Parts: sequence; C-alpha cells; structure tokens
Amino acid sequence: MTKKNAFYAQSGGVTAVINASACGVIQAARENSDKIGTVYAGRNGIIGALTEDLIDTSLESDEDIAALRHTPSGAFGSCRYKLKPIEQSTAEYERIIEVFKAHNIGYFFYNGGGDSQDTSHKMALMSKKLGYPITCIGVPKTVDNDLPITDNCPGFGSVAKYVAVSIREAGFDVASMAKTSTKVFVMEVMGRHAGWIAAAGALAAEKEGDSPHIILFPEVVFDQEKFLARVDECVKKFGYCAIVVSEGLSNTDGVFLAEAGGKDAFGHAQLGGVAPVIAEIVKGALGYKYHWAVADYLQRAARHIASKTDVDQAYAVGRAAVEFALAGKNAVMPAIVRTSDEPYQWEIGEALLADVANVEKMMPPEYITEDGFGITEECRRYLQPLIEGEDYPPFKNGLPNYVELKNESVAKKLKTTFDIA
Ligand code: F6P
Repeated sequence: MTKKNAFYAQSGGVTAVINASACGVIQAARENSDKIGTVYAGRNGIIGALTEDLIDTSLESDEDIAALRHTPSGAFGSCRYKLKPIEQSTAEYERIIEVFKAHNIGYFFYNGGGDSQDTSHKMALMSKKLGYPITCIGVPKTVDNDLPITDNCPGFGSVAKYVAVSIREAGFDVASMAKTSTKVFVMEVMGRHAGWIAAAGALAAEKEGDSPHIILFPEVVFDQEKFLARVDECVKKFGYCAIVVSEGLSNTDGVFLAEAGGKDAFGHAQLGGVAPVIAEIVKGALGYKYHWAVADYLQRAARHIASKTDVDQAYAVGRAAVEFALAGKNAVMPAIVRTSDEPYQWEIGEALLADVANVEKMMPPEYITEDGFGITEECRRYLQPLIEGEDYPPFKNGLPNYVELKNESVAKKLKTTFDIA
C-alpha cells in the first residue's frame, strides 16, 4: 500500500495551546514517516481543503515545529466556516475529497471544538459514502471547555489560569484604591453558553473576602436586585467588590445582556461588552466608582502564563491523534481521562466523534453555589489541577519569542477552483 499524506487543520476560536497540538501531530507523523507521508496543513482551516490551499509542513525545520509548542494562536490560520448540512448539499465534501485524492491524502486531523468535531464526523461519513477511504480523527480544542466526554478541553486550562491570575492581581489593585476611589471592578471573560471560564476566576479566592467576590455565570439568569444587594454587601464588608462576568450572561428572557452585533458562520451571536453594562448598573443603583475590563483575546492568547497541565495535554492529544490513526481507528477523538484528583493524574482515552459532535457541556448545577454567585468545593476540585504548573515560553528582548512558520504553499494540482460561500 502506498503511503498516504495527512491533512491537519485548525478550526474555530484559537487558543494559547492549539499549536502545541499541531506540534504533537507533526512530530508524531515525522517519527512515523515510514507510514505517513507529508503533513499538509489547511491554510485557514477547512477553507484550505476546499480551495486547495495547502501548506507543506515538511519545509519547516524540526526546531520551528518544536517551537509551536510554546507559540499561541493558530500557526496555519483558523476559520469559522460551516460546511453545508449533508442533506442540503454534498458538494463541499466532494470537493474536499477531490482535493485529498489529488494530493494522496488519507488522514484527516481536525483540531477544534464542538462544531469542528461535527465536521470531522461528517467527513468520516462522507468518505465512506463516496468510497474514498479517509481516516478522520478529531483533535479536541476549545477555551470554552464545553466538549463532552473529555475531562477538559485543551485551551481551557490556560485561559482559566489567565483569568484567575488577572482577577487576583486586579483585586489587589482595587483593594488599594477602594478607600478613596474605585470600589467595584468588573472583568468580562469568554464562554458563550458555558460558564467554565468564569468559574475559573473563582480559583483566585482562597479565603473569605478574597477577590473575586461575585461570579456571574451564563447558566444563571441575571437577577439584578439580588446582584446589587450582594455588591453592596461586599463593599460594606470588604471595602470593595471584584466581579467576574461571563460574556454569555443572559436576562430572564434568555437574551444576552451584551450582544456586540453580528453573527458568525455558525449563527453564533458575537458577544462582548457585558462588563460596562454591569458596571453601569452598579453605578446607577449604588453610585460606586468602577473600572471594568474585557479580557477578550488577551485571555485566549496568553501563552506567557499558560498552564503546564494544559500545554502537556494539548500536545498529548495531538500525538494521540496520529497514534490512533496508525492503530487503524477512525471517526474518534482522543479524550482526556482523569484518573485521580489529588494528585491530578490523567491519561488519553477515546471518544466517538458521533458522541462529541454538537453536544455542549455546561457547568453542572452542583458546581455552582446555591446563591448562584460562586463555585462549590466540588467545582474547585475539578478546576484546580487544570491551572497547575507554569510553562513559560523563551523570552528575547524582554518579550516571548514565538515562532512564525514559513507556511509555503503546496503547488495546486487541480484545474478546478472552488468558491467558498
Ligand atoms: O469558541 C471560543 C470562543 O473563544 C468563545 O468563547 C467566544 O465567544 C468566541 O470564540 C469568539 O469568537 P471569534 O474569535 O470568532 O469572534
């Protein structure tokens, strides 16, 4: 049998460690060069497959591939592009397979969240249907931590650490100023539907009075009166109040408090800007001076303070994806399996793409305190190990020294082009 090449692509919102997964995939493939040919990366995710815009990763040095492990964001470009439902049209899948045939690609490694695992699953179905064998392996990634089955999602631990570190540091700042100036600080974090990132902020509070004092989860309907009463109570008791609010906070009608306007290819509303809304509510009702911050991309790009656990896991799922493919597995995703909380131990298990696709894992009710403003001990036990360990990137001229790949294109072989919608 002739050796097949591999396609690897990054999809959806990027993270501080998605390139560590890319590093795992490429290094494992290089170590098995007798079985796997070249790893072609999709430029801008699946769009690269559709438009035959492939990157030849074999032109990158071993050193640069190794440096991906400490470089944030998506080295090959990511995308939010939804393939049409199979029932509606199979043209895109046919096109991808045409491109794969032309480049002798037999392995599909797709690194993303829930929507991307759905794409991988559909690719596996369509490869069967169209009679061109492709081994489809999903590689988990999402800062939102909302994939099912896996203990957590690569990308989350580092965001969690950044958020906990930031609210601790900002809390110290507000505490210093509170006597005569700012009394309320609001920090907005990502997490459209699931409050995992907001919950991670609570790790910074280790004893009563520590920042943050209030967490606002997307899973808990915003109760303005109750919230204001708690803010006032904190200011009177501790001198100030530090709040972490999820971008996905909704009111009683299920409407996001802050939609920035616009929708992405998956129909997701673009969120952002709930922090100033919350700060204004506080000022209007209680008159306290405030500062607010929207962590936005800073949180998911923050490789400088990444969690070592997260980096290790992101790398491991990348390697495992290749090992799974070589073991003859198909339509699966490497999952992180927690075998012990203390000390935290984990291993790589396996999830069927069919079970992962389109399932969002929310915070379970037992992870949120009864008042709706904090996390339970059980939740803390779950989250704590995920932020453990530091894995600083190398620094040069006082800044992190990240790699920029050559990203040279593979010569096109097809005469046909494909216009993406
Ligand atoms: O899907 C992960 C995520 O980081 C969400 O938490 C956030 O709402 C979204 O991506 C932002 O997406 P984009 O970068 O496409 O605006």
